[in-house]
Amino acid sequence: MAAGWYATALLLPRLRRCVSTMPCQLLRCDPASITFNASGEPNFTADATRDALSIASHHLVALKRPVVFPTETVYGLGALALDGTAASLIFSTKGRPADNPLIVHVSSMSMLRSILPPDYTLSKTYEALIKHFWPGPLTMLFPRHADIIPNIITAGQSTIAVRMPSHPVARALIAVANAPLAAPSANSSGKPSPTRAEHVHRDLGDKVDIILDGGPCGVGLESTVVDGLGADGHLRVLRPGGVTVEDLQRTLHQELHASGDMPRVLVHRRDYRDDAMELAPTTPGMKYKHYSPSVPVVLVHTLTSPPEGMQLQTAASLVSSLRDRFPDRPVHIGLMTPDDSRLAQLLHGHEGVSWRLFPLGKVTQPAVIAQRLFDGFLTLDREGVDVILIEGVAEVDEGLAIMNRVRKAAGEAAWVSL
Ligand SMILES: *[C@@H]1O[C@H](CO)[C@@H](O)[C@H](O)[C@H]1NC(C)=O
Ligand SMILES: *[C@@H]1O[C@H](CO)[C@@H](O)[C@H](O)[C@H]1NC(C)=O
Ligand SMILES: *[C@@H]1O[C@H](CO)[C@@H](O)[C@H](O)[C@H]1NC(C)=O
Repeated sequence: MAAGWYATALLLPRLRRCVSTMPCQLLRCDPASITFNASGEPNFTADATRDALSIASHHLVALKRPVVFPTETVYGLGALALDGTAASLIFSTKGRPADNPLIVHVSSMSMLRSILPPDYTLSKTYEALIKHFWPGPLTMLFPRHADIIPNIITAGQSTIAVRMPSHPVARALIAVANAPLAAPSANSSGKPSPTRAEHVHRDLGDKVDIILDGGPCGVGLESTVVDGLGADGHLRVLRPGGVTVEDLQRTLHQELHASGDMPRVLVHRRDYRDDAMELAPTTPGMKYKHYSPSVPVVLVHTLTSPPEGMQLQTAASLVSSLRDRFPDRPVHIGLMTPDDSRLAQLLHGHEGVSWRLFPLGKVTQPAVIAQRLFDGFLTLDREGVDVILIEGVAEVDEGLAIMNRVRKAAGEAAWVSL
């Protein structure tokens, strides 16, 4: 975080009242002023940040009210994970049904151990993943310790999803509160990813009391969710996200290859299916359709051949089929493609069509594409296009997570030859 930004923050009164009907406090926290020792205990060099965190912690622990804080993926709406009543406020604040499990966030390994069944030991696979990716955007399923984990956290499942966030403000808040926090993204139903405190303030400012402002969040993609509890020892990727499948494979290879005991990394829907799980989701984000625009979204594949029953078409025939949907007026089409897209060039110059381009960034920078995705949907939707075309990307690295989100938003798919 820039020193200048923090200097400005110091000049502001420590507690800024938000302009809303309810008193909502926006408290600035400087992530650069927090460090952690090997046991995960925070050390603060800025009093304002330490004070903000103790106010927020009091709110969580003593008042049992939710607090908004930044994580490395998005802003989260956090509450005590081991207190069913406190955790239930997350659902009422977000306006989200309580049958979707929540991720529990911990700040240290000893906190992780404290919430797992006493007889449970970490597998070699989990040890390797923790060593490489924690703190960070990797969520792992563990067996649920039924005596202490409330039902509302796991949505009645026998597993619990846990991660250790790397954002210093998130991790320090959990450490100061000395309690694991359940924290889904801080947006109300139907609103896309909150990556800045202002987004949350606009969306939930009249519903929450405290927002910790730690500047913009980095990744924009949610955490990757994995399940290594299966009897076969393989690692199942339930939700692709900030840590890529390639990262996981590389790490497991590096750590476990010598032992001759290499688990495979299986991607849900690519390498295996699990219908029971889809009906009773074990992981956040499996069941509910994520944010999708109110206009139709067509996923245009240009890199793969169509499955049986679907046709490969030209760009011109795709455009004319869209135009036919609006016989009595020109059609306004939103187009989301990577920069330098050949598809974008081919689609241009058709009568009766006006285009609104929303470039997603370079194909070589999938992380940027991931960030721009939700912004694109929201912007085009607001501008009132008739239909949105989004070009598919290769399903490698972050591309896997991008395509996972795109498929959730798109109601139709087309295959176009370039
Ligand atoms: C980390 O800090 C805490 C509190 O300041 C201390 O009790 C603990 O021993 C420290 N751990 C390590 C490994 O330095
Ligand atoms: C906290 O950080 C300061 C500044 O880096 C350092 O001087 C101090 O020793 C640290 N305190 C602990 C308990 O680690
Ligand atoms: C809120 O943001 C998350 C995090 O990116 C996103 O996946 C989700 O779809 C959004 N929630 C809703 C209800 O739109």
